[in-house]
Amino acid sequence: MPFRRMVQRLLDLPLRRKLILSFLAIIAIGGILTLLVGTRIEHQTIISLAEAKVRHDLASAWMVYEERLNSLRDTVRLRARQEDLREALGGSDVAGVSGRLDAIRREFGLDVLNLTDARGRVVVRSRSADAPVGDAAARDPLVARALRNETAAGTRIVSRDELLREGDDLAGRAWFQFVSTPMAAARPEDHEDKGMMLVAAAPVIDDSGVLLGVLTGGLLFNRNYDLVDRVKEIVFKGEKYKGHDIGTATLFQDDLRISTNVLDSQGQRAVGTRVSREVKEAVLDRGETYVGRAFVVTAWYITAYRPIHDIAGRTVGMLYVGMLERPYIDLRNRVMATFVGIAALCVLFLIGLLSFVARRITRPLAVMVDATGKIASGDLAHRVRAESQDEIGQLARAFNRMTDELSLAQEDLTQWGRTLERRVEERTRELRDTQDQLVVSEKLASLGKMAAGVAHEINNPLTAILLNSHLLLERPGLDPGEEEALRLIADETTRCAGIVGGLLDFARQTPSQAAPTDINDIVDRTLQLLEMQASVRNIRIEKALDRTLPAIEIDKNKIQQVFSNLAINACEAMPTGGTLAVASLMSRDGTHIEITFTDTGVGIPKENIPRLFDPFFTTKSFGTGLGLAVSYGIIRQRGGTILVRSVVGKGTVFTVRIPLIPPREDKRIEEAPL
Ligand SMILES: Nc1ncnc2c1ncn2[C@@H]1O[C@H](COP(=O)(O)OP(=O)(O)OP(=O)(O)O)[C@@H](O)[C@H]1O
Ligand SMILES: [Mg+2]
Repeated sequence: MPFRRMVQRLLDLPLRRKLILSFLAIIAIGGILTLLVGTRIEHQTIISLAEAKVRHDLASAWMVYEERLNSLRDTVRLRARQEDLREALGGSDVAGVSGRLDAIRREFGLDVLNLTDARGRVVVRSRSADAPVGDAAARDPLVARALRNETAAGTRIVSRDELLREGDDLAGRAWFQFVSTPMAAARPEDHEDKGMMLVAAAPVIDDSGVLLGVLTGGLLFNRNYDLVDRVKEIVFKGEKYKGHDIGTATLFQDDLRISTNVLDSQGQRAVGTRVSREVKEAVLDRGETYVGRAFVVTAWYITAYRPIHDIAGRTVGMLYVGMLERPYIDLRNRVMATFVGIAALCVLFLIGLLSFVARRITRPLAVMVDATGKIASGDLAHRVRAESQDEIGQLARAFNRMTDELSLAQEDLTQWGRTLERRVEERTRELRDTQDQLVVSEKLASLGKMAAGVAHEINNPLTAILLNSHLLLERPGLDPGEEEALRLIADETTRCAGIVGGLLDFARQTPSQAAPTDINDIVDRTLQLLEMQASVRNIRIEKALDRTLPAIEIDKNKIQQVFSNLAINACEAMPTGGTLAVASLMSRDGTHIEITFTDTGVGIPKENIPRLFDPFFTTKSFGTGLGLAVSYGIIRQRGGTILVRSVVGKGTVFTVRIPLIPPREDKRIEEAPL
């Protein structure tokens, strides 16, 4: 699954990148969330501030509207009290009063200023002196009130007929062809011919309090921009934003813009357009005040609308104020940009900090990895620097400790290896010796058989010769020549018998008289016999005997013969003197007693070693070569062995090894050469 692979790939990234990436992810998520929430809060704050302001502005605009209404009412009421109106209504000077009323009308910027009689019929139309009069104005509820002796003022929808009566120009001003407006509610008609007028009516009363007539003043709002421009000036102080008026005001007659300073795309006042259905429904249908964002003609505004009622309480139009939304949006964007900028700086700083921290963590690890590699390749002397007191420092110290122990262990191992090598060498040598010994003993066994055969065959004739020569010698009357010859025969025959006896000693092994004996005693006795001879030859004898050795079962005469043979051989090997050292000791494994004869004599050439124990092997002109052969036979019969080590020119060591426990009788016979 690709997601799992992606996760795996992320997990396989180097530690440093992983750290930075995960922190960045946290920063990014946090940043985006903050940004979203921040934007929302900020937008709401700014917009609700703007809405509060526009609500307040609407109240101010309404005050301007009311002030206009009040000033109209005051003007009309004050004028109604003037003497000339009473006189005119008395019938004296209607034309004169018409001129004066027209002057006032112009002075106060009114569109209509009419005078009716006590029955509500128009007697003076100040706007046009020659316009027809006599029509009943009493249908106007305000006039009706004035006829009831009340001053009244309010907003009124005026029909086209009424407007035409006041003047064609007014009807023309009021007339609007609807400009199609996308969001407006549908209306069956396509134009407006009525007008919306601010009207005040005041009674004209004579001194005795009798109502003579009514003075009515009116101000047609359609295409009269005084009020909206005044609102703009007072409320918004004519403030502009990028060449556009920030604040706008509009008067609606029903849903139709009849007076406004909102401009259309051609820069004309956008009269003739209509309000959106949403606003119409809220304000005109439900009579509410509407505050909110609205698209007005060409741009978005933050707007407020309130209904305008006529004197009977019917909703006849609306007063609107609106502020361009743009400055607020720009303000919001500026705040957001600052916010994002600061956030970006923070992120940059965090990334810097992060990579610093990540490096602090990962660099020692990389060093450690490198060190591990070095140690793995055998450089046990390598150490890492442990500077900090944190976990990384602890790790480095533990690592160094481990390396210390490793190198100690390695040293031990090397030592062990060396010891082992030496032991193997030793064992190998011992094995080789044993093997040599085996070869020798096998050879000697067959030699023994032959020697025994020969000795046996020769022994009988020799005995006969010896016997007969002695018998002949005992004969009386032998001449000296014969006697000497016979004695020579007897002597040489005796010598031969001696040799044959020796051979038999080697081969057949005469039965031993074994008894528990201290081997050191035999050594002492042998050397004692030799002392004289040795000192003559300038030979020093040294003894190193282990006096704690147990007594063992041996035939002491035979063993003495062996020791004596070895000691004599040693002395003969040192013709110009030297040292003969004799030692006795227990073998390392505790199974044998060992007696060594060490001389500082001429030594034995390597090629002679295998033949040393052969009968008749000798390098001496007077020797028989039976000494070692006989000795070997004796020791072998006891279950032991004789070992030789020699260096030519330095000396020789003969070691006699005798087992503590003698071999069983049957085995001894079996192993014997004969
Ligand atoms: N300690 C030694 N140093 C040097 N060579 C020795 C030593 N012992 C024995 N030999 C050699 O071994 C040979 C055999 O010795 P062995 O004792 O069997 O006979 P031999 O001494 O020659 O004669 P015999 O002992 O019969 O008088 C000797 O001739 C001598 O060459
Ligand atoms: Mg000898």
